[in-house]
Amino acid sequence: MTTIPVLDGREIPPETRLQEIMSRLTALAPGESLVLVAPHDPGKLLRMLLAQLPNRLMWGPLAKGPDAWRWQFVGREPAPRTVCDYLIWDHRRMEEILADALALAQAGNWQEAQARFAEHAVALTHHAFIEDEVLFPAYDEATGNLPDGPTALMMQEHHDVRAGIERIARAAKQRDLEELEDAHDALVDVAAEHHAKEEEILFPGIDETFPQPQLAELVEKLMLA
Ligand SMILES: [Fe+2]
Ligand SMILES: [Fe+2]
Repeated sequence: MTTIPVLDGREIPPETRLQEIMSRLTALAPGESLVLVAPHDPGKLLRMLLAQLPNRLMWGPLAKGPDAWRWQFVGREPAPRTVCDYLIWDHRRMEEILADALALAQAGNWQEAQARFAEHAVALTHHAFIEDEVLFPAYDEATGNLPDGPTALMMQEHHDVRAGIERIARAAKQRDLEELEDAHDALVDVAAEHHAKEEEILFPGIDETFPQPQLAELVEKLMLA
């Protein structure tokens, strides 16, 4: 089970909140994680982090409102980010969340399992969204919008991924462990095949297509989307 320290920004007085959040995020060592809880979309903070802690962090959402926004951060060695760096890290992050969620359900801890599956759904839905809306259009444009380019298939596979997430959510809601395990295994199969194509072919191709600093700018767009 992965337990990540949580910093709840809602519990910090407004006059010291930003300072405390920045100092906790600045202190993250490479590979060290922190979950930040905020009462609103953290977009402004994320833009500030890109400017003030360049290349020092990766992040992705676990909840996007309406009452709380939870974002997972991890420290990294400062070096320009590539698409491989960012999105492969996010693939591994989502796999960990999904494995945790299933283990919670198998232990009979249904309430926490449902919450963890919901975090996985937010993370994976967001991930597919930034690929569909930011990454693939940028790559298609840079490569001349080839009619048989690889991104159309990836977008199509995202439909299967979203259907898999919905099946899991239904089974978790009904507390039907057998159906949940089947739904989990089916999504793991679909995602593993999809991620392998992205990680072995598409993302390295995108990293080669864009020279720095355009590549770093593209990754920053993904991180702010
Ligand atoms: Fe994808
Ligand atoms: Fe992906």
